[in-house]
Amino acid sequence: MVKICCIGAGYVGGPTMAVIALKCPSIEVAVVDISQPRISAWNSDHLPIYEPGLDDVVKQCRGKNLFFSNDVEKHVAEADIVFVSVNTPTKSQGLGAGKAADLTYWESAARMIADVSKSAKIVVEKSTVPVKTAEAIEKILTHNSKGINFQILSNPEFLAEGTAIQDLFDPDRVLIGGRETPEGLKAVQTLKEVYAHWVPEERIICSNLWSAELSKLAANAFLAQRISSVNAMSALCEATGADVSQVSHAVGKDTRIGPKFLNASVGFGGSCFQKDILNLVYICECNGLPEVANYWKHVIKINDYQKARFVNRIVSSMFNTVSGKKIGILGFAFKKDTGDTRETPAIDVCRGLLVDKAQLSIYDPQVSQDQMQKDLTMVKFDWEHPVLLKPASPTALKQVSFAWDAYEASKDAHGICFLTEWDEFKTLDFQKIYDNMQKPAFVFDGRNVVNPDKLRQIGFIVYSIGKPLDQWLKDMPAVL
Ligand code: NAD
Ligand code: UDX
Repeated sequence: MVKICCIGAGYVGGPTMAVIALKCPSIEVAVVDISQPRISAWNSDHLPIYEPGLDDVVKQCRGKNLFFSNDVEKHVAEADIVFVSVNTPTKSQGLGAGKAADLTYWESAARMIADVSKSAKIVVEKSTVPVKTAEAIEKILTHNSKGINFQILSNPEFLAEGTAIQDLFDPDRVLIGGRETPEGLKAVQTLKEVYAHWVPEERIICSNLWSAELSKLAANAFLAQRISSVNAMSALCEATGADVSQVSHAVGKDTRIGPKFLNASVGFGGSCFQKDILNLVYICECNGLPEVANYWKHVIKINDYQKARFVNRIVSSMFNTVSGKKIGILGFAFKKDTGDTRETPAIDVCRGLLVDKAQLSIYDPQVSQDQMQKDLTMVKFDWEHPVLLKPASPTALKQVSFAWDAYEASKDAHGICFLTEWDEFKTLDFQKIYDNMQKPAFVFDGRNVVNPDKLRQIGFIVYSIGKPLDQWLKDMPAVL
């Protein structure tokens, strides 16, 4: 029986390995992590991450050919293929702080693999890493390995949170990069055979190591660039009376452009886009390509602009102050169908409103109160200027309460903001919400989840990203 071990039981390692176990009953899969609470949760009825369809897959395989364990070294030693799916955040101090990927976790995993291995292994980069990381990993493995043969492959993951299981079941492509040597090609073939259990052969792409590593950064940069492009258009739409949804529709009908990923929003979030673009920017700078670096930097600048613009719109339309006003925050996760809040635009929007002394009542169906409190008080890194951004002060947290549902969050509020596009928000009883709010009652829709015309008929003043503005908003010019 082929044995796979995956180091890192996070948003990628957990679901990816669960699907490999499900689709390959002849393979034994162990997912290991240094975090005990995480592993305990994977072994319980309450998985550590919320992902539609994941519970089902885990239930089908756990204890059969899928195991979650803290015994990292044992499972690594026994494995034929070791996936490394540890976190690779942006460095927050030292050389490259604010941009470069922090490979501390990766390096310690590689050193441990070298230490405990007694047999040949294929080591697979699953984490998103800077191009050329495989070379560094090879050095660590071969310098410490007592002559054991290691083949390094790059097999970046393209799943998106909220649709991870669907993406893993039916991927657009699986990418495997390896050395173009006989041993390298053999390792590529071995991993290919794993995916071939359920992925059609023509969707398994093989390339050299550097192309595979760079393709992952490039794909995320292209995706984020689309969002920043449509978000930049949304500002122009508001200034001109065009409707961004109509513009996206018309633009996306061009088969060369395509309709996906053109939804204007309060900004993209998630653990990947900003981190991976900054990583790309740093690599370009290190390779003497400042123009290319600046090009990609602007994707993030527009994203920051979009979040700031949203806050300015709220404050300016409410008579230039939100001091003491209750604002209901509907949705905190970075997108629907996940409880993940990493880099969620909600953090910046809430912090912006707290600075202006608003009283926030936050509701999200999947994010815990604890998590939101942590997010609002954590120290954030300003990627552009390597300084730490001030978190919301403990006193500012007194301005925050947490609600059980959207109705409680909006009760007696002056305004409500949609920051995540949860499906349940589409079917709210807006008449009831309106009746229970202060007047004028404002809706700020950062995800285009509501129908502005219907809400206006009820009496709301509505701001929807990139949509024609109410007369009220036109009369309250915002500094954008
Ligand atoms: P995560 O933080 O959810 O999980 C990483 C896990 O690795 C943590 O549980 C941590 O405890 C564990 N870990 C760290 N060092 C370890 C070590 N030395 N030994 C054992 N365990 C260790 O991260 P994630 O979201 O799963 O992302 C993992 C990688 O995949 C990142 O490089 C990310 O960029 C990439 N990626 C993420 C997504 C996504 O949607 N989250 C999608 C594609 C790629
Ligand atoms: C992303 C990539 O899509 C995935 O391929 C990669 O493996 C990891 O990073 P993820 O961050 O999980 O996945 O979610 P994604 O669906 O890409 O959304 C990212 C952010 O962009 C979210 O905040 C989302 O709301 C926003 N978004 C997405 C928009 O604002 N508009 C869109 O049209 C699409």
